[in-house]
Amino acid sequence: MTNRTELLNRRYGADAFNADIPWNETISNLLSHRSIRAYLSDRLPSNTLETLVAAAQSASTSSNLQTWSVVAVEDAQRKEKLSQLANNQAHIRQCPLFLVWLADLARLTYVADSQGLSHEGLDYLEMFLTAAIDATLAAQNAVVAAESLGLGTVYIGALRNRPDAVAEILNLPPHVFAVFGLCVGYADSSVNVEVKPRLPQAAVLHRETYQLEKQDKEIAVYNQIMKTFYNSQQMNVTGDWSEHSAKRVAFAESLSGRDRLREALKNLGFELR
Ligand SMILES: Cc1cc2nc3c(=O)[nH]c(=O)nc-3n(C[C@H](O)[C@H](O)[C@H](O)COP(=O)(O)O)c2cc1C
Repeated sequence: MTNRTELLNRRYGADAFNADIPWNETISNLLSHRSIRAYLSDRLPSNTLETLVAAAQSASTSSNLQTWSVVAVEDAQRKEKLSQLANNQAHIRQCPLFLVWLADLARLTYVADSQGLSHEGLDYLEMFLTAAIDATLAAQNAVVAAESLGLGTVYIGALRNRPDAVAEILNLPPHVFAVFGLCVGYADSSVNVEVKPRLPQAAVLHRETYQLEKQDKEIAVYNQIMKTFYNSQQMNVTGDWSEHSAKRVAFAESLSGRDRLREALKNLGFELR
């Protein structure tokens, strides 16, 4: 187990953090997280998928409604098609297991219908958000489980570029939306991936009330850390974190098609009232 001081230094890209904090293997695994974008073709041990889904189902779920599902994709052609829809990201083709996490209101629609009850509540934005939160919590539990088993993962939000096409490829019924994908597999260790530093805690942790202005200094510190990180990882990022992040949200076109998400969701049967 890498020691806590080292992991904290990597997580914040600085050695300013007080390492005198409670610690165990779970926290060590969480702080070691990094997204993996280069995979070996090795298959996963048998029943790994079932283990990940059991971990996912152990996450809290709003009112125990369990408004999520997951599609496990292992077929090379289907992964190829999904990769094409997601900016051709090669890791989708490469990973042995691609999980698509779904906000799923179809099951509840079906259950209500079979009870002879109305399901008007499902037409509201609240229930869409509930389902997206449920799917996200479930997926993150699966990520933590996968990493604890020595596997690597990366989320694929780019699946939302074309929700209609994704729905067709996966045979999704109305009221089901692919929130994101997740590559799972063994990392190709010939590709070095460092832990990506996060903002100083003082930027994200507020005590009692929220303070925006005080974050200036912390963001400036983080920009310096990330400039060094981008260079050391030979990442194709110009400028610092602030510039990179601001450009990511500058225009509707910066959202790579996701600026049309509301319309796409309507077409998938989500009224979002
Ligand atoms: C919802 C979500 C969607 C993401 N989509 C993508 C994606 O489409 N492609 C990709 O390479 N990484 C994607 N990522 C990974 C993030 O870029 C990554 O988590 C972030 O840069 C922090 O790096 P780390 O995970 O290594 O700490 C996504 C992450 C999240 C949480």
